[in-house]
Amino acid sequence: MSSTASGAAKPTVTVTLDGTNRSTTLPLLSGTLGPAVADIRKLYGDLGVFTFDPGYGATASCESKITYIDGDAGVLLYRGYPIEQLAEQSDFTEVAYLLLEGELPNASQLAEFRKNVTYHTMLHEQLRRFFDGFRRDAHPMAILCGVVGALAAFYHDNLDINDARQREVAAFRLIAKVPTIAAWAYKYSIGQPFMYPRNDLSYAENFLYMLNAVPAEPYVSNPILSRAMDRILVLHADHEQNASTSTVRLAGSTGANPFACVAAGIAALWGPAHGGANEAVLKMLGEIGKPENIPEFIRQVKDKNAHTKLMGFGHRVYKNFDPRAKIMKDTCHEVLAELGIKDEPLLDMAMEMERIALEDDYFVSRKLYPNVDFYSGIILKAMGIPTHMFTVLFAVARTVGWVSQWKELIEDPAQRIGRPRQIYSGAPTRDYVAVSRRD
Ligand code: CMC
Repeated sequence: MSSTASGAAKPTVTVTLDGTNRSTTLPLLSGTLGPAVADIRKLYGDLGVFTFDPGYGATASCESKITYIDGDAGVLLYRGYPIEQLAEQSDFTEVAYLLLEGELPNASQLAEFRKNVTYHTMLHEQLRRFFDGFRRDAHPMAILCGVVGALAAFYHDNLDINDARQREVAAFRLIAKVPTIAAWAYKYSIGQPFMYPRNDLSYAENFLYMLNAVPAEPYVSNPILSRAMDRILVLHADHEQNASTSTVRLAGSTGANPFACVAAGIAALWGPAHGGANEAVLKMLGEIGKPENIPEFIRQVKDKNAHTKLMGFGHRVYKNFDPRAKIMKDTCHEVLAELGIKDEPLLDMAMEMERIALEDDYFVSRKLYPNVDFYSGIILKAMGIPTHMFTVLFAVARTVGWVSQWKELIEDPAQRIGRPRQIYSGAPTRDYVAVSRRD
């Protein structure tokens, strides 16, 4: 099979099946930014062949107006706005509005949105009982996944995905309730009373309050830590068609309700190659123990037979610095300074690891740079958040991205059920043989 692209007014790609006289001309689509995309939908009909792209590295699964990544340049835009500007000048609630609605809100739209999101922060009291059903040592991601899926059993008035108002309220409920569920999963794991949300606090402050406050003591929030948490939420809010977002879209394409779709996204996020990486970075640093052991660890990473990865490094799309990692590193220094932590061995080790890796040909030639998770774990640890909560925090932030992408999917008239094909490499057709006649 060979193909050529032509630069005529309406660009196309012509694909020819080598050795035959069969060919087809496919439209070449272009977005606002990014490379052109060959529309292969009629390839099978015209030539009888599928395309093969395991891991979807070269496949655009949908059209989206939400997030743009230029992996070579290290650029991340939410609705066109650079992540650096949003992390510096905006806050999570405003970013949530931007992702969902497409534009930055004016003052009254923002006030209305804040009111709607805070109005839904409480959980149905009966949902409290779900927590008791989990073992005390359950991973909070298991609890989050289960309880978010269970929301569908409590909010029947949000299950009609064809009703725009129901979709809107489901979005508010998910964005408002996931932090409460996440904080309660943590409180349950340490045996402390659940703290009810406080709607007078900002989104990030309220989340920290539900995690850290106890009924017996007054709670004083720290603006630097609240700001750091807000920034972590902004940086993780959306990231184009990553594994968990694609999972949400695939589940959504079947017509499943939004609570079930987000629970599916949480399950996909849990893996160490995706959201579980921040937890894995701290585990890795802990196991390395001291800077003297880094060269030996790097040697293992380069040994294919050792199956060891430098966690927090590498990305499917970024072949340059992950712009989120740079902001995260600065935030890490700010938080440690605020907390008066002058000497943090994990940070020293992470910086030394980064230095060594960025000079090593293995990482340089493969364009492996620190990703968002490399420094986030160190900040969260300094803020007193236990390691098993790191991925949960990622899920709290990403809920807004999942909901925005789900909403866009449902509102897209071109949307169909997601149903990839395969190369079948199993047995050819054969006849059944009775067990008595088998060797
Ligand atoms: N350590 C060592 N080698 C690596 C790493 C790493 N972290 N990442 C990639 N490589 C190597 C890989 O072995 C391969 O080498 P070779 O060409 O010799 O076979 C080459 O680099 C290309 O890697 P790949 O596996 O084809 O890359 P991918 O796009 O399939 O995987 C990734 C991307 C993020 C899963 C992978 O880089 C990884 O596992 N990183 C560590 C986990 C991590 O930090 N994940 C968080 C990602 S950012 C947050 C998020 O979006 O979830």
